[in-house]
Amino acid sequence: MDNLMEIIKKRRSVRAYKDKTLPKKVVSAILEAARYAPSARNLMPLEYKVITNKALIKKLSDGISEGLKKTGFSLKAPPNVRLNYFYSAPLLIIITGPKENTFCVSDAAIAVDNVMLYATSIGLGSCFIGMARIIQSSEDLLKELNITEDRNIVAAVVCGYPEGWPEEKEKIQKAEFFE
Ligand SMILES: Cc1cc2nc3c(=O)[nH]c(=O)nc-3n(C[C@H](O)[C@H](O)[C@H](O)COP(=O)(O)O)c2cc1C
Repeated sequence: MDNLMEIIKKRRSVRAYKDKTLPKKVVSAILEAARYAPSARNLMPLEYKVITNKALIKKLSDGISEGLKKTGFSLKAPPNVRLNYFYSAPLLIIITGPKENTFCVSDAAIAVDNVMLYATSIGLGSCFIGMARIIQSSEDLLKELNITEDRNIVAAVVCGYPEGWPEEKEKIQKAEFFE
């Protein structure tokens, strides 16, 4: 394995994937990376919807389009082009947390980072999909995913074999030192 700093710097948001299924043991290892993430008060409140069904991934993406239409959010795509918000990746993981747990968004963000870094370390692409939260606006989709009323979608991530590796983006940082 590369050293951790190399993996951190190598990670990219990958938005194009090969049409190739991930082996089950790879999916399990990805979940294992998420499982080892820290959790506020060690409550471990997150639940994972592990979706490899292509038709369902497409349906959820269409659900985001519909949800955005309702909010009047304007997209860069031409009017009749339906974007695939999950970039046709073979694996989509949607993470939910209890509505009353204000820390679960942070728990989920760290879990997604574990997933993305692990994916990078084994040559897979990944991308955090904040847009997945829009699914929350569809009662039908929530029902289909067995997401109960007391839970929110707090994060989502896609993984798969990358179709190319994006160029490095400039990373800026503001830091103030008190020594
Ligand atoms: C909280 C969060 C939500 C994001 N949501 C999306 C998303 O819905 N769709 C997407 O394509 N990228 C999404 N991204 C990826 C960012 O656009 C990406 O991290 C940023 O452009 C920097 O590129 P890099 O990840 O390759 O360094 C999200 C990233 C974060 C941290």
